[in-house]
Amino acid sequence: MQRRHFLAAAGLAAAPGSLAAARRDFPWADREVYLNCATEHPLPLPAARAMEDYVRAITYGPDKDRARFEGAEIQNRVRDRFAALIGAKPLEVGFVPATQIAENLIVDGLEIAKDGANIVTNDLHYGGSLLNYNRRIEQGLDVRIVKSRDGRIDLRDVERAVDRKTRLIAVALVSNVNGFVEDAPALSKLAHAHGGYLYTDVIQAAGAVPIDVHAMGIDFLACSAYKWLMGGRFGYLYVREDLQGGAMKVKHFGGRSGQPGAGRYQVSTASHVGCACQDEALAYIARLGVENIQKHNQGLHARLRREMPALGFRCLTPEDSPAPISTFQVPDVQKVTDRLRKARVIVTLRGDGQMRVSPSVFNHQGDLDVFLNALS
Ligand SMILES: Cc1ncc(COP(=O)(O)O)c(C=O)c1O
Repeated sequence: MQRRHFLAAAGLAAAPGSLAAARRDFPWADREVYLNCATEHPLPLPAARAMEDYVRAITYGPDKDRARFEGAEIQNRVRDRFAALIGAKPLEVGFVPATQIAENLIVDGLEIAKDGANIVTNDLHYGGSLLNYNRRIEQGLDVRIVKSRDGRIDLRDVERAVDRKTRLIAVALVSNVNGFVEDAPALSKLAHAHGGYLYTDVIQAAGAVPIDVHAMGIDFLACSAYKWLMGGRFGYLYVREDLQGGAMKVKHFGGRSGQPGAGRYQVSTASHVGCACQDEALAYIARLGVENIQKHNQGLHARLRREMPALGFRCLTPEDSPAPISTFQVPDVQKVTDRLRKARVIVTLRGDGQMRVSPSVFNHQGDLDVFLNALS
């Protein structure tokens, strides 16, 4: 490889803090071709260092060092950074341990069962959430699961499922199954027209596609940070200001209840190590810019969606999807598993014959060369 190309591929010729230099911040990218960020995103070095600093503080002390990581200042900063990322007001954001816990808090807080109301979701929502809804169906809750057609949810099917007793439309904004992106403004309009609300799980969206909760009409939102928010077992809950405590009641209580805003739904102390990680990870994402991240990722997905079908892998992701995920049908899972293992390429291969590929800011076309060559 020419020196110029080598430097560009390694990001060594690029300005520090720029997207072109991002590879330097992810040492994992040097060890294997990691195309699996929809499962877990590697940590950027600044976030890893923040976690190390915290671990050092609680390992060696002195006690005053803990304040930097456990005090209100860092928590307010992280809350403000996440609020800015999704276009919310700071007091519309609270901390939760993880996405699915937040979804349970919302469903419980809306007292849907008590009022004989219903929930409308769909089969491109996360499997764990569908498990939750199926259990609630067994307990007598009216939950309507709209079926996808050809990898998409047709708004007309949702319209048929919604009625005046619909309290919540619950979806993954970006589907982990195939990267389908929901039309949040249309779903919000539909929910509101029937006196209901819109919840979006944004774990496959936040940090990778632009989100503006107010412009998109999102009433409730949640995510964990270990995917496109680049790390930390840490989670966020957004609740529209005027729904806090009224439409969405506080149903679970603990030492952290009674905080202002969406913080009222936080039951326990948030993870300090997760908060330290997010402090740096969110700053890192803000420096790169979500639009730039999305543009970079779309460049990689355009090639994958164009070249994979010619190699015999049908694309299951809607062609126009701006999501950071491409999913393909795999005719022979064992053969592909063996080839990718040999080439040290990491993707998600599912038993149902589907392969999900999810590169990020540290990947470049050279990684796709390795991946596509392994499959050729
Ligand atoms: C769309 C979606 N929602 C939720 C989850 C799990 O979220 P958590 O572990 O934060 O509850 C995943 C994990 O893969 C996911 O892809």
